[in-house]
Amino acid sequence: MKNEIKVVVTGAAGQIGYSLIPRLIDGNTFGDTTVNLSLVEIPQVVSKLEGLAMELDDSYFPNLGTIDYTDNFSEAADGADWFLLVGSIPRGIVYNGKKIEERSDLLQINGGIFVDQGKAIGEFGNENAKILVVGNPANTNALIGRKAANNSSQTWMAMTMLDSNRAKSMLAKKLSCNVSEIKKMIIWGNHSPTMYPDFENALKDNQSVANLIEDTNWIDSHFIPNVQQRGKAVIDARGASSATSAAKAALDTVIACENATSSDDCFSAAVYSDGAYDVPEGIMCGFPLMTTPSGEIEIIRDLTLSDNARSRLNLSVDELLSEREAVKDLL
Ligand SMILES: NC(=O)c1ccc[n+]([C@@H]2O[C@H](COP(=O)([O-])OP(=O)(O)OC[C@H]3O[C@@H](n4cnc5c(N)ncnc54)[C@H](O)[C@@H]3O)[C@@H](O)[C@H]2O)c1
Repeated sequence: MKNEIKVVVTGAAGQIGYSLIPRLIDGNTFGDTTVNLSLVEIPQVVSKLEGLAMELDDSYFPNLGTIDYTDNFSEAADGADWFLLVGSIPRGIVYNGKKIEERSDLLQINGGIFVDQGKAIGEFGNENAKILVVGNPANTNALIGRKAANNSSQTWMAMTMLDSNRAKSMLAKKLSCNVSEIKKMIIWGNHSPTMYPDFENALKDNQSVANLIEDTNWIDSHFIPNVQQRGKAVIDARGASSATSAAKAALDTVIACENATSSDDCFSAAVYSDGAYDVPEGIMCGFPLMTTPSGEIEIIRDLTLSDNARSRLNLSVDELLSEREAVKDLL
């Protein structure tokens, strides 16, 4: 009999969900495993998931197990191994009669959602469940969810893989190589415009990309700001937030967690800080990560940060500390 896995996806009727969900069952993400899907939406939208479920049935996926869809998160969480928390309220919409424009309002509203979801994951999710928060503000949502879950055997992450993939693409173009040749592309800090894409520890052919490029002006005035602002650039060009690339990054994160990391590489996600690299404890911060052969996700601790890198990371850490302060009533 094949292995089975249960995967919960929130925001399943959204743009990212439409690109993400079919690829959870295509045999690439979880290998030859039967994937039982539990798709979650808000009550006003949940009926639309019937259409998505029909399409999944019609798509000939031999690894598809069961499909449930619900607006009851606790029911969905029961016995789940993976949680992809995509659903959240975006900036700019009217919520309970008020237009949500301030980051502080966004933090409060989405924070409240993550308290309830976190509690349910801690109580009903599998003991070694992995949770990837995609919905923004991802780091602080994950912090709130992790605290509410109060279950130390579960692993909470916030997604920075999209930023890492964007950075690899820009470096590969500059170095005229394939994206797969760029290794150790770490995103430090917050998934926000303060993030630090680490060009010094990034490698091509085992050499620091910083040494290969030698064009500090391009790094400072093109590479770093364009990685940091790429989300806005896509919104400006497309009239909607990144969706297919965000879905691909979520899948890449799952694959990175499900397979041991090779010794010449690492992957990017934000995890709970335990003081590594002198980042204060108690925030969800982007770090270099590896998956051990036994499946543990660990921070890689032996990299060096230059003074320039350290001051950029500190800016992002300060932002995470102020986000934590803004939601302290939820923690
Ligand atoms: N971390 C990243 O790199 C990254 C990249 C791109 C987008 N995002 C974020 O991902 C989120 C989703 O983006 P999208 O383009 O799919 O948005 P979308 O608006 O198309 O879809 C979001 C869906 O979430 C649902 N939802 C809202 N609250 C929910 C809840 N409590 N439970 C379940 N579902 C809920 C909505 O009904 C909607 O269908 C946004 O917050 C966006 O900012 C993150």
